[in-house]
Amino acid sequence: MKSENTVWHAQSVSRQMREQQKGQRGKVLWYTGLSGSGKSTIANAVDIRLHELGKHSYLLDGDNVRHGLNGDLGFDDAARIENIRRVAEVAKLFVDAGLIVSTAFISPFCSDREYARDLIGAADFIEVFIDTPFEICEQRDPKGLYQKARSGEISNFTGISSPYEAPTTPDIHIQTNELSVEQATAEIVAQLRFEKI
Ligand code: PPS
Repeated sequence: MKSENTVWHAQSVSRQMREQQKGQRGKVLWYTGLSGSGKSTIANAVDIRLHELGKHSYLLDGDNVRHGLNGDLGFDDAARIENIRRVAEVAKLFVDAGLIVSTAFISPFCSDREYARDLIGAADFIEVFIDTPFEICEQRDPKGLYQKARSGEISNFTGISSPYEAPTTPDIHIQTNELSVEQATAEIVAQLRFEKI
């Protein structure tokens, strides 16, 4: 997708040059899961660990990105598709900058996650499924949103009035009823291969 009458400008500082300077390969950890599943908490804990390891990283979180860049989008299917399209594009830019970028969005549709994987490139895309049963997310209800959705105050709520398509073959599958945040963090970081540049 591109605007009319625009021309691509080649840039002199390449991704490879940026990666060499940082001593790391850019990649994306793409978290997906229900609202209240623990995506933000686990992605944040992994980001702290990456920082401690001296890695250059950045975390794009759904709620936060919807405070600015995607603040014009709601939660119907078309808005969610546009939300993920923009996030995938931003993540791609960050990978080009040589960063290890984590994205924590519900990203409920398989086709959008596949779109992101194709855009970024499968070699640099790691899908992390934060698998928390719906009943537990609803019971936790950290922001009171499930209650609002049940009472009809919020429409198009994931798992209630809007679908969630769970990944069938995620690269990393975190079952939060079996792992603590610390264990999940260790598992994710262990599966990140820090290739020599
Ligand atoms: S999506 O589906 O990927 O476009 O959603 P995302 O950008 O990750 O935003 C999810 C956060 O928005 C809040 N919220 C809702 N979530 C789901 N459905 C509805 N209708 C809704 N309305 C507001 C909620 O705080 C989500 O954050 P998390 O961290 O997932 O709970």
